[in-house]
Amino acid sequence: MKRFFGLIFITTTLSASNLGETLFQGNCVTCHAIQKANSAPSIQAIQTRYKEKFPTKEDFVSFMAQWILKPNAKTALMPEAIAQYELMPILGYDKESLEEIARYLYDATWQP
Ligand code: HEC
Repeated sequence: MKRFFGLIFITTTLSASNLGETLFQGNCVTCHAIQKANSAPSIQAIQTRYKEKFPTKEDFVSFMAQWILKPNAKTALMPEAIAQYELMPILGYDKESLEEIARYLYDATWQP
């Protein structure tokens, strides 16, 4: 319940353009560093793999949000990462927030 209110607070106080980034920084970076693979693949490696498979933003966002909602070894694009780190846990976030994060991840560029 606490997390739920936190999310509403964030949603209403930030503009849509940086909401996805804020949610990513708050909820994903602990496991997914930008460029280094620590306890999970880097987010840059994930972005590259997803864009190869889903070139359009629409497909990228819809597949990624659904996958994070319910991680599934059968549909994963990075089975080698599951072998190395185990399947990503269910995080319990709502679909709209995950779509917001996925939209940010499609557009994001990171300095080397
Ligand atoms: C507790 C650690 C943890 C957190 C938190 C986490 N992830 Fe993951 N994630 C993993 C691990 C480990 C993998 C690699 C294994 C796999 O693919 O399931 C992974 C894989 C992925 C994949 C690739 C799935 C595929 O197709 O193989 C995506 C996309 C992803 N994470 C997105 C996210 C996003 C976005 C967030 C924040 C909302 C997030 N993760 C939060 C651990 C985490």
